[in-house]
Amino acid sequence: MARKFRRVLAVETSCDDSSVAIVSSDGEVEVCLSAHQDLAHAPFGGVVPEIASRNHTDHLLPLIEVSLQKSKRSWDDIDGLVVTARPGLLGSLLVGVVTVKSLALSLSKPWVGVNHVHGHLLAPFLRDEEYAPPKDFAFPYLALAISGGHSHLVLVEDWKRMKVLGHTLDDAAGEAFDKFAKMAGLGFPGGVEVDRWAKQGSKVRYVFPRALIHDDHLNFSFSGLKTAASRVLSGMSPDEIKVNMADLCASYQEAIVDALLAKCELAMDRFRQRRMVLTGGVSANSRLRQRAQDLAAERGWVLAIPPIRYCTDNAAMIGLVGLRALERGEFSLATEGPRPSSQPGDFL
Ligand code: KG4
Ligand code: ZN
Repeated sequence: MARKFRRVLAVETSCDDSSVAIVSSDGEVEVCLSAHQDLAHAPFGGVVPEIASRNHTDHLLPLIEVSLQKSKRSWDDIDGLVVTARPGLLGSLLVGVVTVKSLALSLSKPWVGVNHVHGHLLAPFLRDEEYAPPKDFAFPYLALAISGGHSHLVLVEDWKRMKVLGHTLDDAAGEAFDKFAKMAGLGFPGGVEVDRWAKQGSKVRYVFPRALIHDDHLNFSFSGLKTAASRVLSGMSPDEIKVNMADLCASYQEAIVDALLAKCELAMDRFRQRRMVLTGGVSANSRLRQRAQDLAAERGWVLAIPPIRYCTDNAAMIGLVGLRALERGEFSLATEGPRPSSQPGDFL
């Protein structure tokens, strides 16, 4: 008989955010606390793996302690532990996995290591005081999971069965934003800056390529866009770039949004879906949200975009994936460790 898990404590350390959450069996997030490292990596213009794992070792145990205090829970209230075990930076994953494994062994509680991307894909089912999934939201749905590390188009059939329909052939969508921001002198991570500048700019002043947009498959490619932008920027002086920043950002951003939504529309029609999810850090992009909402209204789709706190990397989404896995009787063994990539069986 399936065992009831009242709530789990979850840990996420796959990249540069350390996060801890307590999630109860109905998907309620009792607490979710994260320590970001943007300032530590900013001088290098990208995430430095060694710095990321060192920061996780400093942040993780205090985050666990404060999460229990803030939610007024003790270990007696926690029925299982969950951790992101793959994919991600190995040194970062190791900190979370070893910590959770040690806690599980010493507290005699079950634990499970889960796939980080599953977390992004199932995040719309989380709930808290301010967010609940849209009415009528259910499986199956098409999800666009876009962040600094991944860009996947996935058909989510239920809590476990997920089929990757398309993915990026080179850079992730977030990388495309971040690399452009770096070239234009906007700092790291740059997606949010590009979004801010783009609000006052012309979307058509610069013409950037929309790669693969008319091809009959569901993959993305952003490296040609990055090269085109690099060519435009290298023909301009720093002052010219500054003066034209809003137009550059708006035109570049529009090319990414066009490419992403063209493939969503193709996938929604091809797989006859009527529910769509935008998730991952890039789904914070205001233009993408607006365009996706307009498209959903026009096509009669139900669109779910989790709040930004559950779109960017967070332990709440990991907790929900693990909770459902534990309920199905799927536990990890002490011999199981972190993996840099997804494993066979993670996706159909
Ligand atoms: O999911 P996330 O927090 O971490 C990863 O797993 O990568 O995503 C971070 C990515 C970065 O590339 C960042 O530039 C991008 O999300 N991002 C945005 C915006 N906010 C964050 N990209 C475009 N527009 C935004 N408003
Ligand atoms: Zn992520």
